[in-house]
Amino acid sequence: MSEEEKVSSVELMNMFVGTPALFWEFKPDAVVHYAEQPSAPYSMLNQEAAAFTVRNNLISTLNMAYAVREVNPSCHIVKLGTMGEYGTPDIDIEEGWLEIEHKGRKDKFLFPRQAGSLYHTTKIQDTDMLWFYMRVWGLRVTDLMQGPVYGISTDEADMDEMLLPNFHYDEIFGTVLNRFIVQAVAGYPLTVFGKGGQTRGYLNLRDTMQCVHLALTSPAEEGELRIFNQLTETFSVTQIADRIKSVGDSRGYDVQINHMETPRVEKEDHYYNPASTGLLELGLKPHYLDNEIINGFFEIAEKYSGNINRDAIFRGVSWK
Ligand SMILES: NC(=O)c1ccc[n+]([C@@H]2O[C@H](COP(=O)([O-])OP(=O)(O)OC[C@H]3O[C@@H](n4cnc5c(N)ncnc54)[C@H](O)[C@@H]3O)[C@@H](O)[C@H]2O)c1
Repeated sequence: MSEEEKVSSVELMNMFVGTPALFWEFKPDAVVHYAEQPSAPYSMLNQEAAAFTVRNNLISTLNMAYAVREVNPSCHIVKLGTMGEYGTPDIDIEEGWLEIEHKGRKDKFLFPRQAGSLYHTTKIQDTDMLWFYMRVWGLRVTDLMQGPVYGISTDEADMDEMLLPNFHYDEIFGTVLNRFIVQAVAGYPLTVFGKGGQTRGYLNLRDTMQCVHLALTSPAEEGELRIFNQLTETFSVTQIADRIKSVGDSRGYDVQINHMETPRVEKEDHYYNPASTGLLELGLKPHYLDNEIINGFFEIAEKYSGNINRDAIFRGVSWK
């Protein structure tokens, strides 16, 4: 699918959130909100893409809040947020909330956020919007601050390739580990931006599914905005590139790593220490990244290597 087709399919979906007929018919007790434009580079492409990101992400969240209030106000909303809402502060990142003592008095606030793209800004605004409706309407919300997801294998996808999830390896919609696997298989040097010290919290696709399931089976209370940091381990981009090179080389590739000038505005070397105990306490059993997982991922990418479009790999979308 071309990038234009992908974007227009997102636009098409936008119509559905405007009229969630099924919602009225089934009056669900829980709803999972995935319906957002999920790409930071896309949101930085141009004014049109920026406006689409704001409209799609904020209006879909707003429409969902209204639908829940009208249809079943005690419906549990599980929304996908992102660890990118916190940015990369020079202090430990707490799980959503921070108690602040100021001039002898204390109160609890959302942990300070500092987005690195317009997309991440809309995710902060979504969280704020649901916090607001939680306060005024008593909505029951879980916001899952998810790190970049990698992988393609799930129990269902392994049964039948018809059940494979969508998979992006291009600069705009792909997440870094997925992109690097495809780049290694395509013989395309791994595109590490700048020093490669950009550190984030990652998780396996299987674990994202577990996390959503755990959130649904232990719902937030009415009038609660519950926040979990959804990641299982942290890596810098250089660490990811090195891991993929090591496994790729052992499979007979000669994986090259290309440190290029970063087109983004972000710290290339920084402190990063996010808390992430809430989902473990609910029962999350992480699939940590190991060579077996990376090898399995290579096998899938190799099977479909004939479909790789090298022109989609690097676009150099500039933040400036
Ligand atoms: N993939 C990641 O690594 C990652 C990391 C952090 C957070 N997230 C968040 O997870 C959520 C899903 O992202 P994803 O990566 O799975 O993206 P995706 O593109 O695979 O899934 C988003 C889906 O929502 C649909 N959609 C978008 N706008 C819609 C609308 N207005 N109405 C109905 N459907 C709409 C899209 O067509 C698509 O099927 C997003 O909220 C994203 O911000 C993803």
